Amino acid sequence: MDEPRVAAVVLAAGGGERIAGPTNKVLLPIGGRPMLTWSLELFERLRDVQTVVLVVPDRNRSAYESVVREAGLQKVKHIVPGGGSRHESEYLGLLAIVDAIAAASIDLVLVHDAARPFARPDRVEAVTQEAGRTGAAILAIPATERIVALGPGQAVEDIGAGLWVAQTPQAFRATLVLDAHRRADRDGFQGTDTSSVVERLGERVSVVADRPDNIKITTPDDLLRAELIAEQLGAHEDDVLLGALWPRT
Ligand code: CTP
Ligand code: MG
Repeated sequence: MDEPRVAAVVLAAGGGERIAGPTNKVLLPIGGRPMLTWSLELFERLRDVQTVVLVVPDRNRSAYESVVREAGLQKVKHIVPGGGSRHESEYLGLLAIVDAIAAASIDLVLVHDAARPFARPDRVEAVTQEAGRTGAAILAIPATERIVALGPGQAVEDIGAGLWVAQTPQAFRATLVLDAHRRADRDGFQGTDTSSVVERLGERVSVVADRPDNIKITTPDDLLRAELIAEQLGAHEDDVLLGALWPRT
């Protein structure tokens, strides 16, 4: 696929309960602009991305519309209400572009958590390219600590080595991810991320190495870390620092 036509579904409908801030967490400022703006501006800049679907909470829609307006974004073509879980929000986001997918005017879909403001263009392009080749790909980083499962009686159960932490964006052939979601809906399956919805069909999902600073803002501590990352990115817009820390692959 030379130049795929890509839609990005940006999930921003969560309540941010673990941060318990004064507003939805994706509206909180990082580096002087709303967390959500970082992702929307990233997709605005990526050549292959033609359409952005922004999934927002039922309440507070106007605050999200203001963010889009103030950032002067052209690619946000749909602002749709989300559901009670990330999974449902994702399905509702996909349904906003169902006609374009059926008409084959979108080849690939990127699904991204607005709670990850620091996804980097080169990594997003890499995961998009991989999905164009294979059908499904996610960004992930190698786990840097041992991860164990809890067995009966809180006993440690080994889950092996070579574990990776899944991140977003995750990229899929558009027809594949829509079909996977329709089947999940039929079967009452709720995925923790988009990949899990596709994996259950027996589809292979490739992993593309991400940078470790593409963190998800989940707790108040993460907000502090995010300010530091924003500062570093601002001071090194040419990517020299992060490129050296995490060589392009
Ligand atoms: N999300 C969504 N719809 C939901 C739940 C989550 O669109 N019903 C989005 C969030 O806005 C976020 C991403 O999914 O960008 C990852 O979710 P998470 O980090 O858990 O965010 P929240 O659900 O907002 O936070 P919390 O779980 O602490 O309430
Ligand atoms: Mg949540």
